[in-house]
Amino acid sequence: MSELQIIILAAGCGKRMLSSLPKVLHKLAAMPMLAHVLNTANEVSPETSPIVVASEELAAQPQFHILQQKYNFNIVIQKERLGTAHAVMAALPQVATAQNILVLYGDVPLIESSTLLNLVKIHKKEQATLSCLGFDAVCADGYGRLLVNNSYDLNNIIEDKDLSPEQKSITICNSGILLFTQQALSLLKKINNQNQAHEYYLTSLVNIVQQNGLKCIYQLTDEKQVKGVNDKHQLAELEYILQQKLRKQAMIKCGVTMLDPASTFIAADVKFGKDVILYPNVHLGSGVVLGDGATILPFSVIEGAVIGANSIIGPFARLRLGADIAEEVKIGNFVEIKNSKINKGTKINHLAYVGDASIGSGCNIGAGTVFCNYDGVNKNQTIVGDNVFIGSNSSLIAPLNISNNAMVAAGSTINKNINSNELGIARALQSNVKDYVVRHLSTKKAKKHQ
Ligand code: UD1
Ligand code: MG
Repeated sequence: MSELQIIILAAGCGKRMLSSLPKVLHKLAAMPMLAHVLNTANEVSPETSPIVVASEELAAQPQFHILQQKYNFNIVIQKERLGTAHAVMAALPQVATAQNILVLYGDVPLIESSTLLNLVKIHKKEQATLSCLGFDAVCADGYGRLLVNNSYDLNNIIEDKDLSPEQKSITICNSGILLFTQQALSLLKKINNQNQAHEYYLTSLVNIVQQNGLKCIYQLTDEKQVKGVNDKHQLAELEYILQQKLRKQAMIKCGVTMLDPASTFIAADVKFGKDVILYPNVHLGSGVVLGDGATILPFSVIEGAVIGANSIIGPFARLRLGADIAEEVKIGNFVEIKNSKINKGTKINHLAYVGDASIGSGCNIGAGTVFCNYDGVNKNQTIVGDNVFIGSNSSLIAPLNISNNAMVAAGSTINKNINSNELGIARALQSNVKDYVVRHLSTKKAKKHQ
């Protein structure tokens, strides 16, 4: 018998999102809402796989399968969406042996594991049958309200649509997070759908547990952790809260210097070394790892890239998936790098595209260099050795190999390999026409006065 089984409700239609993407796959800090909840579930109960109650539409999404492989959760399909109690009922066969059941919502993604562990602790200490996590809302509209009578006892939860005019002023709200025993689970079937929405509300369980003389308690937490997402405005509100938290963590726990925190975007999984400096308007997307002393100058967009110690990126740089930048590299303005390894001390200072390449150490890649990696069908590789100098405005047509200490003359279009210490030059020969300008101007002037 597992002690704690977590069920994550994620099957709702999410109609208010006005989107074809199921609600729980919308991202916060570049990670699906559901992934945030799964991470927390794993911290609370690492021994047991959580159950995700999904709609058929959600289960059909490729993103959902990626999450399933990563987090190894069990899926229960709720065919008809008849309410939160109906969703838990769908999972019943899989929770028959658990002592306690913790219900999390896929659209309440900022909940922290420490808060849930505390709820579990008090639930056990109080020998409660049902424990509800509530919060005192600044604006309670839309949330179910808790009817309480002292610091712990919970009498009922009334959904927003079913509140009497007097109850409307209650600000203590239901976060949706409920913890209950197997005994409460056996009472689920008594829930009916006699309410404004004609849904089977999980929140109705409180009243039923009460009527059976069993103990229901509640605990309050910080509103920021339990705000729900029902529409795009709330999604933006939660992004704001989460970004503030991630920036604070980066500064306080990792010692990141941020010149303008408010304009810095940080994905939930970004990893920081020591003494990283972030200038204003920097976007750090998913999968970014910043080494010790890395400096990111303004307006740089970095996703899926690893940046080595003491490298300087930007301003206006774009590093895409698979950009693997070693130490002391300099990537300057209007440089885009994708799926490429750039070794120690190399400089790519201005206006370049580097795709599917490996560049050695100590190289200088001139302004306007383009690694032509795509032939219209396939992506091809360019290998550049150490201490190579690529003159400005060169096109390097892959597949291509440029060996150590080679040079490419500015303005060349290179499609043949270059050996060590060789110069590759591929451009039209220059000829200077003597007195051309004088002749040119006199012809033009003569024509004008005709
Ligand atoms: C719910 C609570 C409300 C609480 C609020 C907190 C109920 C009846 N109401 O309202 O008290 O204040 O959350 O955010 O529980 N879902 C299913 N299957 C369904 C219906 C919903 O899996 O048939 C899932 C949704 O995907 C979502 C969660 O349950 O993750 C909550 O559903 P939602 O419709 O958003 O409920 P709220 O109106 O927000
Ligand atoms: Mg909701």
